[in-house]
Formats: sequence, structure tokens, C-alpha cells
Amino acid sequence: MASKLSVAVLLLCVGVCVARNSDFSIVGYSEEDLSSHDRLIELFEKWLAKHEKAYASFEEKLHRFEVFKDNLKLIDEINREVTSYWLGLNEFADLTQDEFKAAYLGLSPPPARRSSSRSFRYEDVAAHDLPKAVDWRKKGAVTDVKNQGQCGSCWAFSTVAAVEGINAIVTGNLTALSEQELIDCSVDGNSGCNGGMMDYAFSYIASSGGLHTEEAYPYLMEEGSCGDGKKSESEAVVSISGYEDVPAKDEQALIKALAHQPVSVAIEASGRHFQFYSGGVFDGPCGAQLDHGVAAVGYGSDKGKGHDYIIVKNSWGAKWGEKGYIRMKRGTGKGEGLCGINKMASYPTKDN
Ligand SMILES: *[C@@H]1O[C@H](CO)[C@@H](O)[C@H](O)[C@H]1NC(C)=O
Repeated sequence: MASKLSVAVLLLCVGVCVARNSDFSIVGYSEEDLSSHDRLIELFEKWLAKHEKAYASFEEKLHRFEVFKDNLKLIDEINREVTSYWLGLNEFADLTQDEFKAAYLGLSPPPARRSSSRSFRYEDVAAHDLPKAVDWRKKGAVTDVKNQGQCGSCWAFSTVAAVEGINAIVTGNLTALSEQELIDCSVDGNSGCNGGMMDYAFSYIASSGGLHTEEAYPYLMEEGSCGDGKKSESEAVVSISGYEDVPAKDEQALIKALAHQPVSVAIEASGRHFQFYSGGVFDGPCGAQLDHGVAAVGYGSDKGKGHDYIIVKNSWGAKWGEKGYIRMKRGTGKGEGLCGINKMASYPTKDN
């Protein structure tokens, strides 16, 4: 089908092409790439090389090229219409929305949230005591962006990010912790790569004594028996005391919690705009059918544009979004928040 692309074309393109909303290095294509079928083939080849993709057959490759073109069409349309955020040809560009949805999410919310009698410790924080902006990454409470791969384990990543955060805040020790241990061992209410819930995972950690480090119990992207994946005999674990739910559909409550620690949140992330998000302050479209667990790690405002946002750490690797993060608009006027982010937030507690 396509001729192998020379490196020269890629370099030339990076040098001269600037797309409307952002540059080639962010959105992954230039205006000229859309100008002919041959250019599209070249672009696809470049993308395949960049993301080290290989297909089992020529038929599969042809099929993926069609999907790729369809996605590129949407990406370019949105980049022409929308100015607050932009989409790009990321590593999910050869997947249909259904395929994407089946492979990379993994939140299984119960039909109704268990009504919580637990207290909300940040209830009495006064609004005027809240900082204008908080970024837990800058305060050393957020580990590197991780990648869940094709396993519906988002709930474990969301949980671990919040636990890593409170542990760093309370002990001053930022250590990457094990999602695999949750996948293998937190089975009461959770289903490994087939989905789960952060609250069940917090509950497991509080009752089991704690989580091993990522190094001691590394990620395998599949479900195993509890303890099997543990590499070292190290008994060092990070514990929590329990967890609390942020009152639902109350953005101010979420911000109060977030001013004090990273918070696990659930969102709807299966939309095509979310799939290809590459930067900016995302303001939808998305619904509020929660299907993905992530971690809110701060909030702020885009001064020039007047967008207030929540900083969210995803678990799709550092190549997705803004180095693995997405800034999601807040103050949308909807109680449930953008993509339902205010609906099911919770955080671990760690009392000395
Ligand atoms: C940080 O915590 C981890 C996990 O408990 C432990 O292995 C490591 O030694 C600690 N580092 C410091 C500097 O205390």
C-alpha cells in the first residue's frame, strides 16, 4: 500500500507546518497532510512508526487506515471549531470509540452510591481560606504518570494516586505504590481488569494493613492471585486509616478537599473528544455516565481565557493529553460537574 516514509519528510514537516490551534508536535498532523490520499498514507505510516504499531495482516492495516482517517476527520473538525482545547493523533488514533471504551477504562459504579454516614472532614473549611490555585505535582505529592494499558484497572490507578498523595503529605515520602496488588487482592466489590471502584479499594487498603511499593509489586496488566506478583520479600507497606466521600454534586466541596490532598474522582471518559484530547482546558462534550476513575491533583485558572479548571492525572501514559494530564473545566454551572467529575469523589485518610 504505502511507501515507507523517510525521516526527512518528518523533520521537514515538524519544521514548517503549523496547524491552527497548535503545532504539529502536539496535534500530530499538518494542514498539508490532509491535502491528498498519498499524504494521508504517509501520515499514517509516520504515525505507525511513532507509536510502534504493527498489524497482523494487510487487511487489518487497511481497516485501521480507515478508522484512522475517520478519527483524523473528527480531530481536524474539532480543531477548526473549538479554541479552548485541542485534539491530536495520539496512540488511540486507530481505535474506534467502542474499541477504546472496551479497552482503556474500567470503572464499575454501583447502581446507587452507598449512602455515606462517614464525615466530610473539610466541610468547615471557609471558602476565603482556599488558595486560588493548588498543584500537588509542585508540592511533591504526585508520582510520574502511569499507564494502565489494555486492562480496565483505572480504579486501581485512581486509588493509588490518592494514597500516594496523602502518604507524601503526611510522611514527606513520595513513593510509587502498587496497583497490581489492588488488582490481585482487592476483590471484594472489585473485578481486576474488568472494573472496580475506588472506595472498595480504599476500604481494602485500610483493612489489609497497606500497599507495597510499585517496585516490590510491579504492574502486570492482568489479574493474578493475591501476592503472586510480589517480587521482593520486603514487608514495607504504606497504610491509610480509612476514606471519606466528598458530598456529591458539590463542586465547592471537591475544591475544599482538593486544597488539602489529591482526590480520586470518577468521570465519563469514553467520548471521542476525551480519547483524542491533547491539550487546553477541556469543556466537553461528555455526559455523566461514570466509566473511568482518575485522580484530581489540583485546580487553577487559565488567566488569559477566564477558564477555571481541575487538574486531573490520567493513567494512559505520558503521551496522552498534557503529559498524561487533562485540565477539566470547573464552574460549569452543573452540579454534577464536567463529565460528572463532582458525582463520586473520595479520598483516603491517614491519621498519625
Ligand atoms: C519511603 O517509603 C518507602 C515505602 O515504605 C520505603 O521503602 C522508603 O525507604 C522510604 N524512603 C525514605 C527516605 O524514608
